[in-house]
Amino acid sequence: MLTDIQYRILKRISPGAPDRCSGGAYEGKSKLTALMGADFFAKITGKVVIDFGCGEGAESVEMAQRGAKRVIGIDIREDILRAATNRALLGGMKDTECLFGSSTNELADVVVSLDSFEHFADPAEILRVMHALLRPTGEVLVSFGPTWYHPLGGHLFSVFPWAHLIFSEKALIRWRSDFKTDGATRFSEVAGGLNQMTITRFEKLVAGSPLEFASLELVPIRKLRHFHNGITREFTTAIVRARLIRRAVSASQ
Ligand SMILES: C[S@@+](CC[C@H](N)C(=O)[O-])C[C@H]1O[C@@H](n2cnc3c(N)ncnc32)[C@H](O)[C@@H]1O
Repeated sequence: MLTDIQYRILKRISPGAPDRCSGGAYEGKSKLTALMGADFFAKITGKVVIDFGCGEGAESVEMAQRGAKRVIGIDIREDILRAATNRALLGGMKDTECLFGSSTNELADVVVSLDSFEHFADPAEILRVMHALLRPTGEVLVSFGPTWYHPLGGHLFSVFPWAHLIFSEKALIRWRSDFKTDGATRFSEVAGGLNQMTITRFEKLVAGSPLEFASLELVPIRKLRHFHNGITREFTTAIVRARLIRRAVSASQ
């Protein structure tokens, strides 16, 4: 009954898929420069890079074109891996320079992960895999968000700010199934995944992993920056940015 009412409200607010253009924020700009900083391309020059959760490969191809020795894009979705491979071919890349797949055994100097940590079904396992793929002096550069308590942390489900926290999962999934056909019955089952990641959970996952923070930066939502602090951070952080390195082994171990 309650699910039914909520579903009807959602239908009234958004009868079809919200026409939110993902990635539109970076139109005409380099997403990598915007998220990772102006010195990013200098850091990856001549390096082997793994782009974990590469999507359609725009950033993988950009890294290969702007100085990386070799870029390996990893994703779980076959359809977008095909699109990524086409993009690399159109960009004139050889597969010794840029290639895509669902896994790799090749070790990397840098593992990059953009806007993907809130999508991995088993992020603890992904941290272990990233660690296993790192050369001894390698680093993992992560940038992701919005996290779950951000006003738009429900991604498509945030039909208005924090809608994903107000409506039940059942009602939101029922509303979504009117225009998406992947058969998802939970947030975690939507194509590409949605794991309800919070900042605190990310910190705990890293603490329990073979990696450790070299740095962690929480970039506030611009309009809420004056309210951004240790208490409000889950609700007011736009982007989580981290540099992870292999955990130092203590002398007693
Ligand atoms: C929002 S997209 C980000 C794509 C790209 N990095 C970007 O910034 O535009 C998240 C990607 O993570 C991928 N993904 C989810 N779970 C994954 C996993 N376990 N391993 C690799 N990729 C995964 C999804 O398929 C999706 O393409």
